[in-house]
Amino acid sequence: MKVLVATDKPFAQVAVDGIRKEIENAGYTLALLEKYGEKARLLEAVADADALIIRSDVVDAEVLDAAKQLKIVVRAGAGYDNVDLAAATAHGVCVMNTPGQNSNAVAELAFGLMVMAVRNLYNGTSGTELKGKKLGIHAYGNVGRNVARIAKGFGMDILAYDAFPAAVEAMKQDGITPVDSAEELYAQCNVVSLHIPATAETKGSIGHDLVGRMLKGGVLINTARKEVIDEEGMLKLLGERTDLKYMTDIMPVRHAEFQEVAAGRYFSTPKKMGAQTAEANINAGIAAARQIVGFLKDGCERFRVNK
Ligand SMILES: NC(=O)c1ccc[n+]([C@@H]2O[C@H](COP(=O)([O-])OP(=O)(O)OC[C@H]3O[C@@H](n4cnc5c(N)ncnc54)[C@H](O)[C@@H]3O)[C@@H](O)[C@H]2O)c1
Repeated sequence: MKVLVATDKPFAQVAVDGIRKEIENAGYTLALLEKYGEKARLLEAVADADALIIRSDVVDAEVLDAAKQLKIVVRAGAGYDNVDLAAATAHGVCVMNTPGQNSNAVAELAFGLMVMAVRNLYNGTSGTELKGKKLGIHAYGNVGRNVARIAKGFGMDILAYDAFPAAVEAMKQDGITPVDSAEELYAQCNVVSLHIPATAETKGSIGHDLVGRMLKGGVLINTARKEVIDEEGMLKLLGERTDLKYMTDIMPVRHAEFQEVAAGRYFSTPKKMGAQTAEANINAGIAAARQIVGFLKDGCERFRVNK
């Protein structure tokens, strides 16, 4: 069995070493195609591959046509819109992602932004502490759970809201106080950390009325997605409530206006940095290799994303 790692933007060497170990220990062969540039080179390399590990590399119908022996593609990372799922299904190829592998990285950045906010963006003035403050975790998934774990160390009082019962069960097990609605969460908290996905329901849902419920001096941290924010509403709110702060890992479309309206109370990373750690990349690559071994040896389809 041949497992091809095809990465136009290569993994770190330590991640490649870890992937190789997983694959070779299982008795398979590892082939490496890095910085291939042209699609023709990918088409050639996949011809005899049984399994494929990719990062942001595009796997479309043409690649799948060329990969006559392919059984599985794993996207090392959370998003998988670079893979044509319908074409993969039509070719009988299983597609997986590796969810959760960058969650700690994102959660740590949320705290980096939180400390920066309560210390007034390090402007030389006296700030406040996180200890004893009420933290609202908006969506209790992979990242939200890591935020809760770290918040315990900070001595915060932790509440969370999630739309789905399984997540509420997880909160109870973790000793986190569940609340019944997003409105209730914002109304009770000093800091809210956003971890909802961008769906039809959540897009543009975080804005004036919801965030306006926050306690005096409230801080909103966004390491989720740009699309969930109603930028118009947030700009209006930050203009009205000069006590509120907004810190984001995803630069708003109207970044310049945020800088103007909320000078000293607003910060955006220059580019999305949540998952940008050596560890997150290594974890995702090794998880991809393990998932391939599990699939080829035992037929395990956990984390499959196509039908
Ligand atoms: N900043 C970064 O670099 C970075 C990196 C990874 C992920 N993310 C983003 O972080 C977010 C969370 O990622 P995750 O890995 O924790 O996802 P996840 O799928 O593990 O968790 C998402 C949670 O949201 C809940 N949810 C869905 N719809 C909801 C709604 N309408 N109201 C309340 N809860 C709802 C789900 O029940 C689930 O518990 C995603 O938006 C993802 O795109 C950002």
